[in-house]
Amino acid sequence: GLPGRVRIYEVGARDGLQNEKAVVPVEVKAEFIRRLAATGLGTIEATSFVHPKWVPQLADAEQLYPEVADLPVELPVLVPNERGLDRALALGARRVAVFASATESFAKANLNRTVDEALAMFEPVVARAKAQQVGVRGYLSMCFGDPWEGPVPVPQVVKVCRALLDMGCDELSLGDTIGVATPGHVQALLTALREAGVPVSVIGVHFHDTYGQALSNTLTALQQGVTTVDSSAGGLGGCPYAKSATGNLATEDLVWMLQGLGIDTGVDLGRLVATSVWMAAHLGRPSPSRTVRALSHQ
Ligand code: HMG
Ligand code: MG
Repeated sequence: GLPGRVRIYEVGARDGLQNEKAVVPVEVKAEFIRRLAATGLGTIEATSFVHPKWVPQLADAEQLYPEVADLPVELPVLVPNERGLDRALALGARRVAVFASATESFAKANLNRTVDEALAMFEPVVARAKAQQVGVRGYLSMCFGDPWEGPVPVPQVVKVCRALLDMGCDELSLGDTIGVATPGHVQALLTALREAGVPVSVIGVHFHDTYGQALSNTLTALQQGVTTVDSSAGGLGGCPYAKSATGNLATEDLVWMLQGLGIDTGVDLGRLVATSVWMAAHLGRPSPSRTVRALSHQ
């Protein structure tokens, strides 16, 4: 069966904008997040407290976060280490996310660490966040395929998921960073996680649409009991440290499918499309989302 309600975890302002060549002015980012909140989205990832040289597009996190902190929505932020956590906590962040990799190649490229060194870096971050009742998400990248290593073995992914949960993460996000997953692979990973004792209630899915499989993969995950889905308004996105990553699953495409299935999201699709059209004008190119294109005149 399918869930009655799906929690959409909006990543456009972070995963989307981190990959833009042009740096988007902080006022435009704040307006983007405010408009997203007005569509009914309840969880909007705002930014990352990472090294500004690694992700220059999000170097304005200190300016941006206070501009949106009063919105009545969840505003998680990425923190790779204690330095990032300090920066986030200083601004009153109540939800953070660490981001691990299932492969050594991407751990090195994204975090300058081995997989185990990265997990060791996250441990005090998670412990300190939990001690302050700050919610912690554990992202896991390259859960299906890796641009350097090819297909990623399911047991390798399960092992890092377990490590993230054991250190205290409240939820996981299974990342198909480069968008190569197909439904059978999604089903195999979710089955293996269930067999490893990971409750489906803590699992979110994070698909990129490189090969046009993101919606099929999402539907497969919903059929397996997943109720948290990451997506990006207008299909913005990618990852600066994974060359072949293109945009995330578009939130509009997701909402269109869920509405058709009679699944509640709380999102006003018309307002969301208008927001992505507005953002596309700022970025100087049309949204790649099929639903945005169908419902607008861009
Ligand atoms: P490093 O070079 O190993 O850093 O980078 P370090 O620990 O050796 O520290 C070097 C210097 O950086 C020090 O300064 C630190 O203070 C400073 P110095 O003493 O030399 O003056 N520093 C910081 N400054 C500000 N904020 C910080 C911070 N940390 C250290 N947080 C590091 C290691 C983790 C910092 C770096 O690799 C990094 O920032 N990586 C972030 C990469 C990133 O954000 N990638 C995109 C997000 S992941 C993603 O998009 C995938 C996802 O969407 C899911 C999916 O699709 O798969 C989530
Ligand atoms: Mg991503």
